[in-house]
Amino acid sequence: MAAILFFLLLLTICNAEAQQRQSTINLGSSLSPTTNSSWLSHSGLYAFGFCQQANGYAVGVFLAGIPQKTAVWTANRDDPPAPGDVTLNFTNDGRLVLQSAQGKETSIASPGGATSASMLDSGNFVLFNSKEIVWQTFDYPTDTILQGQHLSTGKELFSSISEYDKSTGLFRLAMQEDGNLVQYPVGTTDVEQYAYWSSQTYRDGDNVTLCLDVNGQLYLLNSTGTYLTNLTQGESPTKDIVYLMRLDADGSLRLYSYNLHQNGNLSVLWSSTNDMCLPKGLCGLNAFCVINDQQANCKCLPGFAAINQGNQSSGCERNFSVESCKSKDGSLKYTMEEVLNTEWVKNYFSHLSSISKEDCKAACLEDCNCEVAMFNAGECRKQNLPLRYGRRSLTDTNIAFVKVGIITANISTQIRIAQMGSEKKLRKDILIISISFVVFGIFMFVISGTAIYRNIIYKNRGRAYTRTSNNGYIGFSEDVAPQSFPYSDLESMTDGFKEELGRGAFGTVFKGTIQNGQKVVAVKRLEKLLAEGEREFETEMKVIGRTHHKNLLHLLGYCYDGEKRLLVYEYMSNGSLANILFTPEKQPCWDDRMEIARDIARGILYLHEECEPQIIHCDIKPHNILMDEYRCAKISDFGLAKLLKPDQTKTFTGIRGTKGYVAPEWHRRQPVTIKADVYSFGIVLLELICGRKCVDWDLPEEKAILEDWANHCFEAGDLDQLVTDEEVNKKQLERMVKVGLWCTLYEPSLRPSMKNDLHMLEGIIHVPIPPSPNSFVTTL
Ligand SMILES: *[C@@H]1O[C@H](CO)[C@@H](O)[C@H](O)[C@H]1NC(C)=O
Ligand SMILES: *[C@@H]1O[C@H](CO)[C@@H](O)[C@H](O)[C@H]1NC(C)=O
Ligand SMILES: *[C@@H]1O[C@H](CO)[C@@H](O)[C@H](O)[C@H]1NC(C)=O
Ligand SMILES: *[C@@H]1O[C@H](CO)[C@@H](O)[C@H](O)[C@H]1NC(C)=O
Ligand SMILES: *[C@@H]1O[C@H](CO)[C@@H](O)[C@H](O)[C@H]1NC(C)=O
Ligand SMILES: *[C@@H]1O[C@H](CO)[C@@H](O)[C@H](O)[C@H]1NC(C)=O
Ligand SMILES: *[C@@H]1O[C@H](CO)[C@@H](O)[C@H](O)[C@H]1NC(C)=O
Ligand SMILES: *[C@@H]1O[C@H](CO)[C@@H](O)[C@H](O)[C@H]1NC(C)=O
Ligand SMILES: *[C@@H]1O[C@H](CO)[C@@H](O)[C@H](O)[C@H]1NC(C)=O
Repeated sequence: MAAILFFLLLLTICNAEAQQRQSTINLGSSLSPTTNSSWLSHSGLYAFGFCQQANGYAVGVFLAGIPQKTAVWTANRDDPPAPGDVTLNFTNDGRLVLQSAQGKETSIASPGGATSASMLDSGNFVLFNSKEIVWQTFDYPTDTILQGQHLSTGKELFSSISEYDKSTGLFRLAMQEDGNLVQYPVGTTDVEQYAYWSSQTYRDGDNVTLCLDVNGQLYLLNSTGTYLTNLTQGESPTKDIVYLMRLDADGSLRLYSYNLHQNGNLSVLWSSTNDMCLPKGLCGLNAFCVINDQQANCKCLPGFAAINQGNQSSGCERNFSVESCKSKDGSLKYTMEEVLNTEWVKNYFSHLSSISKEDCKAACLEDCNCEVAMFNAGECRKQNLPLRYGRRSLTDTNIAFVKVGIITANISTQIRIAQMGSEKKLRKDILIISISFVVFGIFMFVISGTAIYRNIIYKNRGRAYTRTSNNGYIGFSEDVAPQSFPYSDLESMTDGFKEELGRGAFGTVFKGTIQNGQKVVAVKRLEKLLAEGEREFETEMKVIGRTHHKNLLHLLGYCYDGEKRLLVYEYMSNGSLANILFTPEKQPCWDDRMEIARDIARGILYLHEECEPQIIHCDIKPHNILMDEYRCAKISDFGLAKLLKPDQTKTFTGIRGTKGYVAPEWHRRQPVTIKADVYSFGIVLLELICGRKCVDWDLPEEKAILEDWANHCFEAGDLDQLVTDEEVNKKQLERMVKVGLWCTLYEPSLRPSMKNDLHMLEGIIHVPIPPSPNSFVTTL
């Protein structure tokens, strides 16, 4: 124990010896970790220079006047200088650079025109030109705000990994453009469901600033100087006390005071929360936080094991193999385990209401696509893994039922299989082109470290906090089998087929009402269908009627009456995706378009992997994707391809010779598999990315065919050309385009499965560079 303490002490040492008090630092000055290690401020309270860290050094500003030498600002925090010979130079041309013995240069600041530098007594390290400040550390806060410093609109603090490792940790504090000061986990967008603390000043004005005064008062100020809220009241000012606010590694925001005359005696004056489990993301995926001895501890779901024992935020993975759950002999391979009183991010695909606890449990056990069911007060929500941001909450009566494998065989193989999940097919595909596609291990949090989403976060801050997800939507109970209607009923329902809503490949759609006019429905009169026996039609309707997924249009009823075939669906008030995507005034923003893409992927995934028999849609296009009132996408017309006469499959796949949504194998008379849907999905994804139609001859020839144009831009490394007049985060854009290009590969076996597509879109797995289309296409 003593050894550990000693070790920790060593780690925090910022060399405060061998330093010079110097109010002005001239061009050509330099520091090294061993000799002249820092520049002190005039009073000696703050220093700029080297600080020893867990591995190597950090360069930054630290409180030199107290024994703890607390670091308050860190340069290049995620890229600290390697241990060994490094020099920090204030070069003759006014740049602040780190130079290694090997000659590697890392820039800290190069504002241009700086002629001197100074470590100020406020804790601000500044570079001046002959007239004014050209660069200052106060403009780039890391995890700390000092007294006199502020956090202005649009800026964020990121917590550190620990007190001894100042690289970016798990949490962030955003001063949003809507006036709200909000804490989120790193790597999320600014939406309410991810927030875990806020100042409750939403919409209290633009340009709101978080300020910390010299007396320790912490408050939010609007642009006309009005105090919006006082987080702390402040004390009577004294020179002996230094205040600082820090977003700590554990996710809590704290105001500290250091008493200089009591050997740096430290006290916590305020903190955003005392609940150690409140910060979301403390525990990784599939784990939940519990308080033990006033410490936050992470526990895995039953049937799961920690990915990395020493690292709680790495999360948990299944410790059993995931095989197809549809066993031939009918024996049970899985059981449901209960976890009481926990709270998670809601992300369900199917919702059943007025149901008993036992029925909820059984509903998930029988549904191969269901991995977890959340039961609360008669409501049952079926969910997929991973689960996020779990915590024990004794006031929450939620019961999580987790599907767990019963057979325990060879654990080492099982874990390997579990990691691969059901990706065997893709692995084979990927081997062909020998790209290592290390999937399941790479989770959201890996990405978060590099804060890929930072730019989008800035962009959306204005309105994003208000946006509630589709998940808040409670539909009518889904588990009602479709009803068979006599033709006369449908005639009266639609008032004699009076109001036509649209015309599709399969027939005409009319508006109707049921339940005495209370509920609006869409009635589809099928045409061009095989004059099939009633029995086959009814069988098909049962298959379609069994699909319960929030991204699939729900079939309420059907009618077969002589030659007549009609279907009754939920009515979608926002029309089709084609309608909103290709109408400039209605076009959703980037984030919403990407959510639509994920919704479509979820729906197709369900058709491919859960339905028995498997359903290939064959006609995925924006016209067949309907938008409900919450703009949640629902796929329609699935399961109908089977009902077509054989000669019509050709016409319905349509537009020969032009590139549309139709996979090339249709033209090649090759067998059509689920990968044809993946192709069509890829085209729709590219349309969502670019906000335009896949074929548009009004554009210059090279841009007319979106797929070719996207390939061209990707190979030229110029993706900005794909999006018009909208600021989109480059990394995210590239990621989405790559998924689109993978899906639209000419060779079906190379296209990823829908499951992998969804995981790539969700950022759960890495997206490799797609192969060039030309390397596979021989003749077209
Ligand atoms: C420390 O810096 C001062 C002024 O920049 C210089 O005179 C002195 O030689 C340096 N000491 C060492 C050991 O480099
Ligand atoms: C940086 O400092 C080192 C050591 O003082 C010196 O050898 C090197 O020339 C300096 N580089 C620049 C660009 O000033
Ligand atoms: C600042 O807040 C005050 C008081 O709520 C308000 O009257 C004023 O308009 C606000 N200023 C801005 C720019 O919103
Ligand atoms: C907020 O600040 C920005 C940049 O400093 C400025 O352009 C804008 O006019 C300010 N808005 C208000 C309402 O003060
Ligand atoms: C916040 O503090 C300021 C300055 O101390 C004071 O003028 C103001 O009334 C306080 N506001 C609230 C809401 O407490
Ligand atoms: C530190 O401050 C607290 C309260 O401010 C006081 O109770 C404690 O005795 C002080 N400790 C030392 C070592 O001065
Ligand atoms: C999986 O973990 C559970 C505890 O969560 C344990 O009871 C079970 O034996 C483990 N199974 C395997 C195969 O390791
Ligand atoms: C813990 O795991 C997370 C997620 O895998 C990773 O980002 C982080 O760097 C790890 N932390 C440490 C200290 O290894
Ligand atoms: C378990 O798997 C390992 C590695 O695949 C294999 O070497 C071993 O023989 C297996 N054991 C049993 C009992 O199947």
